Amino acid sequence: MAFKRMTAAEAAAYVKDGYNIGLSGFTPAGTPKAVTAEIGKMAHELHEQGKPFQIGIFTGASTGDSCDGILSREHAIRYRAPYTTNKDFRTAVNNGEIAYNDIHLSQMAQELRYGFMGKVNIGIIEAFDVTDDGKIWVTAGVGIAPTVARLADKLIIELNAAHAKCAKGLHDIFELQDPPYRREIPVYKPSDRAGKDYIQVDPSKMLGIVDVNIPDEARGFTAPDEITQQIGHNVAQFLISDLKRGIIPSTFLPLQSGVGNVANAVLGALGEDPSVPAFEMYTEVIQDSVINLMREGHCKFGSSSSLSVSNETLQSVYDDMNFFKDKLVLRPTEVSNSPEVARRLGLIAMNTALEADIYGNVNSTHVSGVKMMNGIGGSGDFTRNAFISIFSCPSVAKGGKISAIIPMCSHVDHNEHSVKVLITEQGIADLRGKSPAERAKCIIENCVHPDYKQLMWDYLKISQKGQTAHCLEKAFAMHKALAEKGDMHLAEF
Ligand code: COA
Repeated sequence: MAFKRMTAAEAAAYVKDGYNIGLSGFTPAGTPKAVTAEIGKMAHELHEQGKPFQIGIFTGASTGDSCDGILSREHAIRYRAPYTTNKDFRTAVNNGEIAYNDIHLSQMAQELRYGFMGKVNIGIIEAFDVTDDGKIWVTAGVGIAPTVARLADKLIIELNAAHAKCAKGLHDIFELQDPPYRREIPVYKPSDRAGKDYIQVDPSKMLGIVDVNIPDEARGFTAPDEITQQIGHNVAQFLISDLKRGIIPSTFLPLQSGVGNVANAVLGALGEDPSVPAFEMYTEVIQDSVINLMREGHCKFGSSSSLSVSNETLQSVYDDMNFFKDKLVLRPTEVSNSPEVARRLGLIAMNTALEADIYGNVNSTHVSGVKMMNGIGGSGDFTRNAFISIFSCPSVAKGGKISAIIPMCSHVDHNEHSVKVLITEQGIADLRGKSPAERAKCIIENCVHPDYKQLMWDYLKISQKGQTAHCLEKAFAMHKALAEKGDMHLAEF
């Protein structure tokens, strides 16, 4: 049976007010672009006619502007899960316009299966190949595509000619059974494969195929600066020291690296340091820096849910598939971010904090405890289950008016029980084996910016003694000073 060909506008017309759409992809990589942009146009027209139109969006992680951006600006999103990085979406969420469910990425497919977020009315999958009997080869990102394809009432394929058929074999599609039938994920080293390289769907639910030729909406990173380079150097020093002490085995352990400018700089620094052995990655996103490290021989293998790289880099990977085929695998998020696999492989997890408190609790999501930044992403999946969980960030933000280390986190994503190492450009706080009081001393001495050190000691002095010393009336004095006077330095203890 040959599937119907349709335009993106015709496909968008199937999506009705109140529907939930499920999307393939992870970051802009692998995410459909043409149909969601047309849904945005449709929303605009309906709203102009005074008619309601809002939908729910289920994805693997962030998307590009043609989904989260356009649909936020058109006030067409009622509900969305999980992680996103879009500025307009962030504004809408913080204005209270969108119900945003920021859950661990590894749990997204499972929570869809359990039905907590409602049904998937229409799935939209970006693919580079599809066969009449329902085999779908997704593009540069997988995310929750297999689950969306199976659960959706109806499916639309965006067949994107910008992705090469030579990428066949890159993917490993494996969907977990739900308890009590769940078995282990048979991944015992980053390069192991558990499934097939395509998604099989029931062809009878295919609405049709939209032919497109659209490059990914890749995000750029700020080039590493002195601060992020120093953080990267400190992370490398920490790992080398653990390697020398025999804590990390001489064969090294697979790395997981978070998203953003700091994470990108850290990876670059690890590649440049000759004492760091060639490593494997078991992570959720492969960024440009990793592709370069593979070419230089510093990174031997990368398992991920997406190739979230610039279009030039992606093209260069497609052009050189003979080199990359046995060095890369793209998996669904519930496998790429699986807590079970993270614990088994003994990952070294490296993620980024917005703020951390003197006891090692970390806030990665909420600016001043209230405003959403991006979301927790996969950081929780890895942090709780890694062999070593490292968080890094610059010691100050916004020209020094904000200290990233504060007495008490205004929101906690990763708690003191999971965070094992904190690193800023100032230094390294190894929290392993330490009590809260020992952790506080270690963090203040090693990670806090010199301008804020005295404030932090002053806070400890006025804190009520206990297992975890605090002065609850003053715990947020620095956040209060920032809100009222624009500068955390102006806090008084
Ligand atoms: N209070 C207010 N703003 C802060 C802040 C704080 N304590 N710390 C940082 N910021 C601001 C920075 O000034 C910057 O603002 P700008 O964009 O206006 O310049 C912004 O937050 C990003 O900071 P930056 O230092 O450039 O870090 P980043 O690009 O590495 O991003 C996170 C940091 C935490 C936002 C990002 O890593 C993230 O979303 N993490 C959560 C998800 C995650 O870890 N996923 C990976 C799992 S595999």
